[in-house]
Amino acid sequence: MRRSGLLVWEILQKLAKMVEEGVTTQDLEAAAEKMMQDAGAKPAFKGYYTPSAGTKYPYVLCTSVNEQIVHGMPSNKRKLKKGDIVSIDTGVQLNGYFGDSAITVPVGEISESAKKLLKVTRESLELAIDKARAGNRLFDICGTVEQHVVENGFSVVREMVGHGIGTKLHEEPQIPNYVDRRNENPRLKEGMVLAIEPMVNAGAPDMRVLPDKWTAVTKDGSFSAHFEHCVAVTENGPWVLTRP
Ligand code: MF3
Ligand code: CO
Repeated sequence: MRRSGLLVWEILQKLAKMVEEGVTTQDLEAAAEKMMQDAGAKPAFKGYYTPSAGTKYPYVLCTSVNEQIVHGMPSNKRKLKKGDIVSIDTGVQLNGYFGDSAITVPVGEISESAKKLLKVTRESLELAIDKARAGNRLFDICGTVEQHVVENGFSVVREMVGHGIGTKLHEEPQIPNYVDRRNENPRLKEGMVLAIEPMVNAGAPDMRVLPDKWTAVTKDGSFSAHFEHCVAVTENGPWVLTRP
């Protein structure tokens, strides 16, 4: 899982450097697909079946621009422009093990409120990572994201969750970005690997899915940010597999 994690990190670094005005989300897709091929890795998302969409996801990346929350699809018609924010989410499978990570990248100069949204979302992930310790409970992670986001005047998306990860992209437990008391609150144990992924809206928490059945957008059109890391619970504390 460390190897898949580092490959995902490398890919995201390279894509982040490509992001500028005029680049299309399909340009990012093509570069990512090539990197996966060169590394001998399988894309984790391309061909992934999701019952709610009723189709297999057709790309190696999700590229979600501005009011798109997650699962935006790369397109040669979507040229990035100054002031945009683009979430790039990707995963790979190497030797049977998965890695999954996301970053949100500014395009040129962005508004102060967009900067704050990226900062708060990134911080909420870092604070949650620090809770991925044996003996803590799942709600420590969920509640930490929620509290930091709400304190800063933003809202967490409730319909989409993080997840366990390993020999499948999505394993138990589901990891909401808020404390959902309908769920169990298992204790965290050494050896668990969690994909923690805050999805944060600048405005209201409500989302809807576009007619393409995949792209999740904010109902109020406000910007949304997304960061994700895979974190192993170890005897030495949290180990982020998706960065060096
Ligand atoms: N990072 C997302 C997740 O973990 C992306 C999944 S896209 C899909 O759920 F196409 F694979 F569904
Ligand atoms: Co994920």
